[in-house]
Amino acid sequence: MESVEDRAREALAAIAAASSLAELADVKAAHIGERSPIALANRAIGALPPEQRKAAGLEIGQVRARVSEAFAAREAELASVALDERLRSEAVDVTLPVTAQPMGAIHPVTAMIHKMCDIFIAMGWEVADGPEAEAEWLNFDALNFTPDHPARFLSDTLFLDPPEHHKLLRTQTSPVQMRTLLTRDLPLYIVSPGKVYRADEYDATHLPVFHQLEGLAVDKGLGMADLRGTLDHLARSLFGEGIETRLRPHYFPFTEPSAEIDVRCFVCKGECGPDRPCRTCKSEGWIEWGGCGVVNPRVLAAAGIDTDVWSGFAFGMGIDRTVMFSTGARDLRDFVEGDMRFAPLFGRLEVAA
Ligand code: DAH
Repeated sequence: MESVEDRAREALAAIAAASSLAELADVKAAHIGERSPIALANRAIGALPPEQRKAAGLEIGQVRARVSEAFAAREAELASVALDERLRSEAVDVTLPVTAQPMGAIHPVTAMIHKMCDIFIAMGWEVADGPEAEAEWLNFDALNFTPDHPARFLSDTLFLDPPEHHKLLRTQTSPVQMRTLLTRDLPLYIVSPGKVYRADEYDATHLPVFHQLEGLAVDKGLGMADLRGTLDHLARSLFGEGIETRLRPHYFPFTEPSAEIDVRCFVCKGECGPDRPCRTCKSEGWIEWGGCGVVNPRVLAAAGIDTDVWSGFAFGMGIDRTVMFSTGARDLRDFVEGDMRFAPLFGRLEVAA
């Protein structure tokens, strides 16, 4: 029994001396575990003469209980030290200043596309799509451009190789007109926003890649008055009640009659003149917005549509331009140069009322 007491003292000393949970685990193996002297002594009780067993069992039981208690107490102590240490080392100082991450923003052209499309969707129109690499036939012939029409050969059309494939980068969103006439049922009301390409200068007011919104409505009895009402609604929804528009006679091969649509200058409200020049409208009082007209029956006929029954109107306007004149953005190059500070300036694109 003496030696059991000695082993117990050793075990208690080792437990007290353990300075970490890992060391304590070693102590457990050496002094308390299956193969420890105390465990072996416990097992040896069976070999004692019967009259000694009870006293020996009691004694060793008490020793084991003391050692286990001391072990549990030390374990709790070391666990709490370890936790404190971990909390200290993983502490986050929430008062430290953060490195501000700039938030992205929707590009104003994308925001304008959403806004314009929403206005038409609210009237029950659909949004249609078309490819940017387009057949020459759809970009020109189907829209009643004669084979020798100058627009085809103007140096600003970008044809794709090989020339015998007659493909080009669309110069307008108008080819979506014929695509939808050929694939959708009548009546149809569609708008189609997208990129168009022209070999233009790259300067403050021109980009070789810009955006247009095309509109096409074909139904029974549609005419100029419907076109006018639709464009006025678009202008008022985008720019606010009271915005004035005007149609000016013009020529497009795919509409007859054709017109250009202007909106009142947001800056001078038309009150400009020789003594009060206006930069935004170049002292015209009006800003050119887009082209429009009653769909030329030849276009409908090319799509196999009975022009005695159906008629329609169409329009197309520059989206980048719309952002520019309605927000006061001065340089189109800012739209494409990717400066992170640009897009957030437009907020949710609250255009001038
Ligand atoms: N596609 C013409 C352009 O790029 C704009 C246009 C004019 C579209 C008249 C139309 C329209 O739908 O009817 O200049």
